[in-house]
Amino acid sequence: MIGAYRPDLVYSPAIIHMTIPGKPKLFVTRKLTQDVEDRIAGTYEPVFNDDDHIMSPAELAEKAQGCDGALVTTTERIDAGFIEALPDSLKIVATFSVGYDHIDIAAAKARGIAVTNTPDVLTDATADTAWLLMLGAARGAVWGERMVREATWTSWSPTHPLGHDVTGRKLAILGMGRIGQAVAKRARGFDMEIHYHKRSRLPADLEQGAIYHDTLAGVLANGEFLSINCASTPQTRGLINAETIAVLPDGAVLVNTARGDIVDDDALIAAIECGKLAAAGLDVFAGEPAIDERYRTLKNTFLLPHIGSATLGTRSAMGMRAVDNLDAFFAGKTPGDLVTAG
Ligand code: DGY
Repeated sequence: MIGAYRPDLVYSPAIIHMTIPGKPKLFVTRKLTQDVEDRIAGTYEPVFNDDDHIMSPAELAEKAQGCDGALVTTTERIDAGFIEALPDSLKIVATFSVGYDHIDIAAAKARGIAVTNTPDVLTDATADTAWLLMLGAARGAVWGERMVREATWTSWSPTHPLGHDVTGRKLAILGMGRIGQAVAKRARGFDMEIHYHKRSRLPADLEQGAIYHDTLAGVLANGEFLSINCASTPQTRGLINAETIAVLPDGAVLVNTARGDIVDDDALIAAIECGKLAAAGLDVFAGEPAIDERYRTLKNTFLLPHIGSATLGTRSAMGMRAVDNLDAFFAGKTPGDLVTAG
């Protein structure tokens, strides 16, 4: 029978393993690349979102009824209330993202729901986006492009428009996990002096000459460029605020490809407005897509719509990785990217 939770199929006390006779029913909350949807259609009884609309919590809960698993994205808030509304049959939530701050992991665990994510496959695309932001913000790419597009570029000039050098400067990386390390790798090609802060120091082969700081203030003091690459957690939310921005060197450039809520918008906007920061490049925003309106009118901001991992190859790989995790789970194996076993 599809859809019913089978306690007789729990093989391990640590990990809920589940095999379902026939095709498991899978709720896929957003439209995915065609290759991924084709694979899902071959193995699962899918509930797709063909027109890719954003569903209300009520619609999400309704569509999840009778499903054995859900493949979700960062646009769905999987909070305690939502988890409560899930049917007993649903035993795994596979998120199409490396970040899982949109999921209440404790609530999932309490209901015995496994959660998986999609690390690794988006590391390079996201690091590339951090660099796009760094160069775009430092060199005023937006207003330069606008001058050309709007035909306000009247002549080449020795003094206008002028950006800021990147090569040879100091780069501070907040969060030196996979993506932070990939940002650092690219920075070596720009002869940058790399500083990082992380809970624990990396081994020398991963550090590759980057300078470790065991305090946030230590790394920020070296942040002529600051790249935010840490996860959004209760500890990091609001970490970049008026007090911490004050520690950055004057004229610093801040880029964020992690999560918007790590930065206090009021503090960042004030720092750009008063010239403390030369520029900011942002791919993520608190409350996105309803961003703080003031960002839109600031000249020294380079703004992208959360496209860190948005290449065809990477989005396909993320989908495939999420399905690998689901396949493992429904085959009674331990998924490779288990956040919680439930
Ligand atoms: C991630 O994978 O966490 C990206 O930000 C996409 O949401």
